[in-house]
Formats: sequence, C-alpha cells, structure tokens
Amino acid sequence: MKYRYFGKTGLRISEISFGTQTFGWTTDKADAFRLLDYYVAEGGNYLDTADSYNDGASEEILGQWLRGRKRTDDVLIGTKVFFNEHAGPGSNEIGHSKKHIVHSLEKSLARLGIEAVDLYQLHCYDRGTDIETVMQTMEDLIRAGKILHYGISNFTPSIIMKMVMLGHLRQCHRPVSLQLEYSLLVRSPEWELLPLCEEEHIGTLAWSPLAGGWLTGKYQRNAPPPENSRVGRNDREYDQPGKRDGARTWAILDELRKIAERRNVPVSQIALNWLRRKSSISSILIGARNLEQLEANMSCMRWDLSDEETRLLDQASDVNAPYPYSFISSYSRESYTREA
Ligand SMILES: NC(=O)c1ccc[n+]([C@@H]2O[C@H](COP(=O)([O-])OP(=O)(O)OC[C@H]3O[C@@H](n4cnc5c(N)ncnc54)[C@H](OP(=O)(O)O)[C@@H]3O)[C@@H](O)[C@H]2O)c1
Repeated sequence: MKYRYFGKTGLRISEISFGTQTFGWTTDKADAFRLLDYYVAEGGNYLDTADSYNDGASEEILGQWLRGRKRTDDVLIGTKVFFNEHAGPGSNEIGHSKKHIVHSLEKSLARLGIEAVDLYQLHCYDRGTDIETVMQTMEDLIRAGKILHYGISNFTPSIIMKMVMLGHLRQCHRPVSLQLEYSLLVRSPEWELLPLCEEEHIGTLAWSPLAGGWLTGKYQRNAPPPENSRVGRNDREYDQPGKRDGARTWAILDELRKIAERRNVPVSQIALNWLRRKSSISSILIGARNLEQLEANMSCMRWDLSDEETRLLDQASDVNAPYPYSFISSYSRESYTREA
C-alpha cells in the first residue's frame, strides 16, 4: 500500500480508503468484520461512514469492530452529517444547523465508541444554513476536542473558496478535505474542483470510483443485470440505468474490457488504476459488498497502467467541457503549481 499526504493536515492516508456504506445494507456484521480486517491487514488506514448510512447501522457496526480491536491509533475514522431520510417538513434533525450538527455528532460518537472523530464531514452543501455559522460550529467542535479536523463533501468551488478565504480572514479552521464523486464516468471535477483543491492544499477522497458497480463490467448491453447487484436489486436511485448508462458508458466499458482481457485482470482494477494515476486525488474511496469484491479491487495497487492505456481511457471517457472551462483550457497557460 502506498500513502499520500492528506491535504496539509500532516496525516498520511492510504491511497485506497474504505467506505462502509454497505454495512447494514448489503453486508451483515460478520462480513463487515471480515472486510475491515482484510482492509487493515493490507495497510489501509482510512475508514469512512456517515450518520445517515442505513439509519446509523454502518457507524454501529464499525464501532463494534473498533471496540473489539481495542485500538484506533492505526486508523483514521471519518463520518458525516447532513442527510436524514426520515426528517419531515418541520424537523430540525437534518442539514447543518448548529442544533442538528451537535446532536448528530453526539450520536455518531456513541455509535462509534470513540471520543473524537478524525475527520468530520459536511455531507452535502446546505443552502439553508449560513456558511459562516457552519464554520463557527466546526470551530467550536474542534475546540471542544470532539473532532480533530473537518471536511466537506459535494460542495461547489465558489463555496469552497469562500470557506478558504473566511478561514484566513477570521483565523479559524477551514475544511481540510473534499469528498467528491470522481471516476471514468464522472470527470466534471477536473474542470474546477480538483485544480482548486490542489492549489489550496485540500485533501481529496474520490467516492463511487466504480460508479456504484458500473465500472466492474458486470452490467451488459441488452442483458438483465445480475440479480444480487445494485441495479438488479433496484435499490440506490443514482446507480440505476438512465442515470449511469448511455453511449459514453458503453464506450468506456468497451475500452476497459479490451485492456482487462490483454492484462488478464478484472475490469474493476483497470478503472481503479486509472484513478490511482491522478495525483490530484489523495485517496480512492472504494466500497464492497463482500470479501471477494474487496480483494479483487484492492489488488489494483499491485500493478500500474501504462501511459498508452491511460491515454486510451482518457480518450474514451473524455467529456466536452462547458464554457468557460473549454475556452480557458484552449488559451490559458499551465498553472504555476504544475510547472517544473
Ligand atoms: N460523500 C458522498 O456523498 C458519498 C456518496 C456515495 C458514496 N460515498 C462513500 O464512498 C464509498 C464507496 O462508494 P460506492 O460503494 O458507491 O463505491 P463503488 O466502488 O463505486 O461501488 C461499490 C459497489 O459496486 C459493486 N462492486 C464493487 N466491487 C465489485 C466487483 N469487484 N465486482 C462486482 N461488483 C462490485 C458492489 O455493489 P453490488 O455488488 O451490490 O452491485 C459495491 O457495493 C461509500 O461506502 C461511502 O463511504 C460517499
């Protein structure tokens, strides 16, 4: 396992991190423990969860495993706050108000059985809460020793920049990391989010690196999906056909399959290796339903794609950037951060 610096925190993060969203959904406690043991034995050191994953079951199972091990010094624990699918219109148990954050964090700490979260993440930008109020809440939680760092997830570049500037002006903590969807299927972060994070030294975690299973090659044109799969079970809306498939998806999969066949490795490893070559990503946040999937995916770290294979995948997954990104990439000089 290789490690990268996580933004400017001074922390080293394994290039493969492990998301536990499947715990309490498609993965029961016994399997979850097997996955966690394997991941850590392979040198993985970042475990990701959220208050909302399966009504707290993901945090609960992760907490039971942590208690059993009796040590947390060799892993980083990240959780999140924002969503609550049960919140009705009058409920305040959702979003980034101070009330909800403080309340939700207490419950997360109790489920995880830890005194402080290494990385507490704002799960999605909340248009209903003033960002200065949110930053003040994070500042208070750091001072209270309940969180060590805070990160963001699914935020726009303009809000991230505002938080960075407010951090300078107010001499307060700003987010140390961004969780963002990034894969061969979703390349829009390349337009602004990733260059911004590089320039501001914000750590990055790429979620759904296999696009929820689409980049494993298990879904075929004109064939029913495997029964026990996200599409077959019809359970997570944005992994369903209509959201994920189309001519571009099939073209990417054709290229992935050609490389996989030549190399005699699973398609998923090719897709993950394409991400491993991105220096703008601190860690690839993989998920798995069972040990077989986790083993197959983590084996991507044992070999590298060639420059030519990477170029072919870049080409197959290319997206026409909208204005002004297209104009800037045609006419601007390279960023000084990338010059020799
Ligand atoms: N911040 C956010 O908003 C956000 C959003 C989503 C996820 N995340 C984080 O990112 C983590 C990973 O997300 P993800 O689970 O969507 O990642 P992913 O790697 O794109 O998809 C994982 C799923 O693909 C299938 N799969 C994985 N490996 C496979 C293999 N070798 N062969 C066949 N199928 C395979 C499995 O689903 P089936 O077998 O059930 O089809 C597995 O649960 C989550 O656990 C969470 O921590 C964050």
